Amino acid sequence: MNPLLNATSFLDGPYTPVTDERTDHCRISGELPDAMRGMFVQNSPNPKLPPIGAYHWFDGDGMVHGVEIQDGKATYRNRWTRTPDLAEEEAAGLALYPGILNPITRRDKDTANTDLCFHNGKLLALWWLGGQPMQLDVPSLETVGAEDFNGTLTCGVAAHPKVDPRTGELLFFDYDPYEAPHMRYGVASPDGRVTNCVDIELGGPSLLHDIAFTPEHTVLLDFPMRWDVERLARGRRRVQFDTEAPARIGLIPRHGSEVRWFEGPACYSYHTVNAWEEGDETVLIACRIDNPMPSVPHDQEPDIPRLTFLRIHPFLHEWRLNRATGQMTERVLDDVPTEFPRINDRFLGVKSRYAYHPRVARARNLVFDALLKYDLEAGANITHEWGPDTIAGEAVFVSDPGRSGEDDGWLCAYATDLRQGETTLRVLDASDLSEVARVHIPRRMPIGFHADWAPIGAPA
Ligand SMILES: [Fe+2]
Repeated sequence: MNPLLNATSFLDGPYTPVTDERTDHCRISGELPDAMRGMFVQNSPNPKLPPIGAYHWFDGDGMVHGVEIQDGKATYRNRWTRTPDLAEEEAAGLALYPGILNPITRRDKDTANTDLCFHNGKLLALWWLGGQPMQLDVPSLETVGAEDFNGTLTCGVAAHPKVDPRTGELLFFDYDPYEAPHMRYGVASPDGRVTNCVDIELGGPSLLHDIAFTPEHTVLLDFPMRWDVERLARGRRRVQFDTEAPARIGLIPRHGSEVRWFEGPACYSYHTVNAWEEGDETVLIACRIDNPMPSVPHDQEPDIPRLTFLRIHPFLHEWRLNRATGQMTERVLDDVPTEFPRINDRFLGVKSRYAYHPRVARARNLVFDALLKYDLEAGANITHEWGPDTIAGEAVFVSDPGRSGEDDGWLCAYATDLRQGETTLRVLDASDLSEVARVHIPRRMPIGFHADWAPIGAPA
């Protein structure tokens, strides 16, 4: 049996970490478009030192895998993000921070391992539990240091902040599962100064993960999947889902402090697709999970539901928040399970037609075996299959600078053939999902989290 096809833990199979940092020129099949100039980057968890106790996928130190593309050529690099906590462990020569499956004996390690965001000419690595944003150099991927927004940042920044392409502002939130306020919401100016940061009152210690925005409002999500406070007090972690509690979606004026909440039936959503205004209505598109918890008896649930226990069954969904009536309506838009959605980021905050979603594989848990392009206007989709036993990550839209249409550009995603143990960067035409080029990465890449595109030579 090919060991990559089977995972018995988050340290083997397709998750197997890599142990070195490399810089390699890459062979290319097909032709990279001349107009593509930048770096495709993906964040991933990759423990630098042998972990203490049980290891969860979310625990690993942040490592960014990038392919620099210029003049039709491609160079691969991977670098660990040198967070202060990793530096502390490296100085000690051993891991000091137990992961989330273990009893709480000290604070969580701030790994910057989850998301990447390009703002104010800087590439930032971010952590899902709300930590210090870490600036990485492009294209070397060396760690520049913690980003404190010119000394104006007074809290952490969680994955997933949003950059408004029209104003250049960064809309972000901070997340603390353990102590109230569990959420803070903030705005940073285009030149990187925090201009607004307010506490948000939630229905409890909700599992926060994403936001959305329109030109007028930032959309906050407060779903009833929450940390078990009693367990936390005993030094253990568990999340629980209350099917009787409402899902709350909030609108906060971008530079304001008061949230107006809308309520609907219980559900969960990890990632939003987009939001926009239509008259009195604010429209939110996201991947919605009806019930994220496993169907096992409550007393048999593990402390942290391992991903293999979580029910990752997300479907494209639309909510409409009527600001005149206070009512919220919703509808399912598709019956194919998809996650890690992306759009052409120039359309974030305004009505968008297309979205690009990895399809959740049937036979494996939270790996993606194809890419769907949704046409929300036509209510249709097309599919690009990555290939037999091939899994791929988030697909990032890269605009063609010479054209202005919503799907005028390319999609980049890392795909790994588990039979061959080979990773390639696939470049697809965003209009029809046909393959344009394939960059051969001279190593297998472990399954990662979120990806982004960083221009090269952007003004700081
Ligand atoms: Fe995420």
